[in-house]
Amino acid sequence: MPVPDFRAIVFDAYGTLFDVHSVASLAEQLFPGRGEALSMLWRQKQLEYSWLRAMSRRYKPFRDITRDALIFSCERLAIALDETSLQRLMNQYSSLSAFPENLQTLRLLRQAGVPLGILSNGNREMIEVSVRSAGMTGLFDHILSSETVQTFKTQDPIYALAPEAFACRPEQILFVSSNGWDAIGARWYGFTSFWINRAGLPLDRLDAAPQHQGSLLSDILPLVLPASSQ
Ligand code: LAC
Repeated sequence: MPVPDFRAIVFDAYGTLFDVHSVASLAEQLFPGRGEALSMLWRQKQLEYSWLRAMSRRYKPFRDITRDALIFSCERLAIALDETSLQRLMNQYSSLSAFPENLQTLRLLRQAGVPLGILSNGNREMIEVSVRSAGMTGLFDHILSSETVQTFKTQDPIYALAPEAFACRPEQILFVSSNGWDAIGARWYGFTSFWINRAGLPLDRLDAAPQHQGSLLSDILPLVLPASSQ
């Protein structure tokens, strides 16, 4: 049933708007036969470092922990990473591919006048570069970054940036993430949470579930737009 009274829709960036595994093809080109394994471990380590640093209040910008995670992952997989390959992989991270349905979905929401935002662990500059390279410039009212609060998801202060920016209550925000743990963190915080379960994964066992679930970003449309505008 459509719920028209959301005050804003706020999206996670990495994995939700931008495909973090789109670096796998460059990784495969640089290290034949290892691209998929490297891209998976790199993402996992990047997230682990964000959780550990948030837990122990040892913030370091997301771009730097992304680099640290890349170096660790190459060491772990016994891949020799020279400076040129490191730079190429890090640069690729700034121009990740968007998932195919995303641009059209965001445009439809924008045309309907729905306020939109991004709330991400990423550095502001990283997110802005990805937004530009995905052709999404001008679609968002607010880009909210961990840099402002110097901590990462799932700490409350980072989620709190959204109700503050949109001047509303947490439950009036529809928070959309493809990362199951982030969709649950959002529910813990008090957002109305929508999990885009692209990979058909089981729900993490954390005693909470997002209120809504789909498999593509466009699956949020029936919830927020009248049928005529989709
Ligand atoms: C982000 C990570 C969680 O964009 O994907 O915040």
